Amino acid sequence: MDFDINKIREDFPILKQNLYSGQLVYFDNGATTQKPNSVINIINEYYSKYNSNIHRGVHYLSEKMTQAYETARKTVKTFINANSDTEIIFTSGTTESINLVAFSFGEIFINEGDEILISEMEHHSNIVPWQMLCERKKAKLKVIKLNHFGELLLGELDELLTDKTKLVAITHVSNTLGTINPIKDIIKKAHAKGAYVLIDGAQGIQHQKVDVKDLDCDFYAFSGHKIYGPTGIGILYGKEELLNKMPPYKGGGDMIKSVTIEKTVYNELPFKFEAGTSNFVGAVGLDHAIRYVQNIGIDKIAEYESDLATYATDAISRIEGVKIFGQSPNKSSIISFNIENIHHFDAGMVLDKMNIAVRTGTHCTEPIMKFFGIDGTIRASLSFYNTKQEVDKLVEGIKKVKELFG
Ligand code: ALA
Repeated sequence: MDFDINKIREDFPILKQNLYSGQLVYFDNGATTQKPNSVINIINEYYSKYNSNIHRGVHYLSEKMTQAYETARKTVKTFINANSDTEIIFTSGTTESINLVAFSFGEIFINEGDEILISEMEHHSNIVPWQMLCERKKAKLKVIKLNHFGELLLGELDELLTDKTKLVAITHVSNTLGTINPIKDIIKKAHAKGAYVLIDGAQGIQHQKVDVKDLDCDFYAFSGHKIYGPTGIGILYGKEELLNKMPPYKGGGDMIKSVTIEKTVYNELPFKFEAGTSNFVGAVGLDHAIRYVQNIGIDKIAEYESDLATYATDAISRIEGVKIFGQSPNKSSIISFNIENIHHFDAGMVLDKMNIAVRTGTHCTEPIMKFFGIDGTIRASLSFYNTKQEVDKLVEGIKKVKELFG
């Protein structure tokens, strides 16, 4: 494969760091990804040279910053193949994107007795906003259940989708189990019943090609920091026709055309949903993160990560006493596991001292933990900058944990 891992790793300064006793092995990419120099440098450059509020000034800096912000919107539009820039809303991240839809779409489209369908594998941020909406509107929350491979029981979808289903909110990729859901099929089935579909792409966008036109999803949400960009910036993609029908979510500057004490005329898309000072430098950082990914090629990334995940899964599952949660054949590079009779937190602490960063706990997916009857896992989430040698270190680390607590 034409994929120069050494050159790629050179682009990420944090990966060169030594921690306690050696070089950092970073396997917590599901929580946040590391940033390439191009992203770090552009943020530095914009704060050093061009910082100025957007859409508000006629002066050079403001024009320059506005142009960069709107260029970032175009980059996102092209990256996910949206129809138009107006369908790309900058938010603070996936959580805000989902909350925006829950409040704004919910305001217009959800009424008493309506149903919203989620799944048992959702991250809390794709559960709680819908619970809040159901409480506000006296609507009903329904759930697609899991099987023991960590896949959705999609055979039940025909029964779960009813004439009352107004929205299906489903994750593209499970942050805990790694399962890649067949979202295109789910979207087709939901549409056939007249329901809209929101895809939580927090763990999807960085690992595979996302084409919102081909998927035909109504909403797709993702975070900048999980695709090698800065924190505090994210995207809500929505079909223009729907976004136009939805009321603003927050009131303030930029989302207005005119204000009198009696009445406000709201701005057009996408600004209608971008009240207040946006994270404009964050948007520029996201622009450069996406360009970085595009330069390598998302298909090459997907291929490399899939190969690495297979290597890691084989190696980890060969260790006696290790149980992997999430065994769908259609998986992303996320491996959640436990070691027999050893608490995930203890294992995480020891691995940390061996310079290996993994996440431990419930991963904000308590319903998954309940399903498997556990209180947490150790999660290694891999990126294209990780290597087989690093996986070998993790395997050695797990063996050491076993020795220490055995
Ligand atoms: N949702 C992020 C994770 O899975 C924070 O770790």
